[in-house]
Amino acid sequence: MAAAALRQLFEGMKAFKGRDQCVRLFRPWLNMDRMLRSALRLCLPSFDKVELLQCIRRLVEVDKDWVPDSSGTSLYVRPVLIGNEPSLGVGNPTRALLFVILCPVGAYFPGDALSPVSLLADPSFIRAWVGGVGDYKLGGNYGPTVFVQQEALKKGCEQVLWLYGPDHQLTEVGTMNIFIFWTHEDGALELVTPPLDGVILPGVVRQSLLDLARTWGEFRVAERKITMKEFLQALEDGRVREVFGSGTACQVCPVHRILYQGKHLHIPTMENGPELILRFHKELKAIQYGAKAHEWMLPV
Ligand SMILES: Cc1ncc(COP(=O)(O)O)c(C=O)c1O
Repeated sequence: MAAAALRQLFEGMKAFKGRDQCVRLFRPWLNMDRMLRSALRLCLPSFDKVELLQCIRRLVEVDKDWVPDSSGTSLYVRPVLIGNEPSLGVGNPTRALLFVILCPVGAYFPGDALSPVSLLADPSFIRAWVGGVGDYKLGGNYGPTVFVQQEALKKGCEQVLWLYGPDHQLTEVGTMNIFIFWTHEDGALELVTPPLDGVILPGVVRQSLLDLARTWGEFRVAERKITMKEFLQALEDGRVREVFGSGTACQVCPVHRILYQGKHLHIPTMENGPELILRFHKELKAIQYGAKAHEWMLPV
């Protein structure tokens, strides 16, 4: 089993139980696509995405009594694929193990009270780089981040804002994608997130927020690089409305402080409602718990 540690990839998705007691998976097709991409990148065996999703659906169905139904709760679904070659060499695997772990989880924000997080932005720590594998959900991308997370805690911050490149681009927040809702320097009201250029994990919630905002058509929605210089200027000009992370665990998580180059920057997310964050929460909740029929949900 020695070489098993060479290859490890996983997924994270949720099943929600609605008031009608029906259990539904949220956009699981996107997780299957991402998992297959990860498998191919690690030279692990390919698999049939439709068949795996059928297996997961059946597993959740068997365990449906474990899906909690109070507000904000869900069943976390963690598919894993590892190489378990009994050899020390680094080569093409001939064996792999695919398994799925289920775990009931409580509400990320109990009572729906959003609590904002503070971030350490230290460009000496790099999560992912162009040509690397940061855009795949591989185990190797996560282990090394725990140390940086501990550094953040020591400096009084809850999570890490991952910067990249000499111009300190904002890329991700902990294990979440990042969004900024602001007035761009050209005067347009805009929701912006970094593009999928190889250093960003293509998040399912990221895609969903972009899709929802584009459907509303009320402000500009952009996938573009954001640098700390641009962001600091916007903060100084009072143009920043809301900064938040997005991911399966929290859905949308407000940011209220960033420690950058020795300075604590106050981000006025909470003073601004946070209107957009609350709207996204409400909309996602209605879809996920079945109050609103939606093609994104797969009943189990
Ligand atoms: C590095 C990273 N970014 C973003 C995300 C958010 O992705 P998703 O919305 O699919 O949970 C995750 C979580 O999977 C992640 O690990």
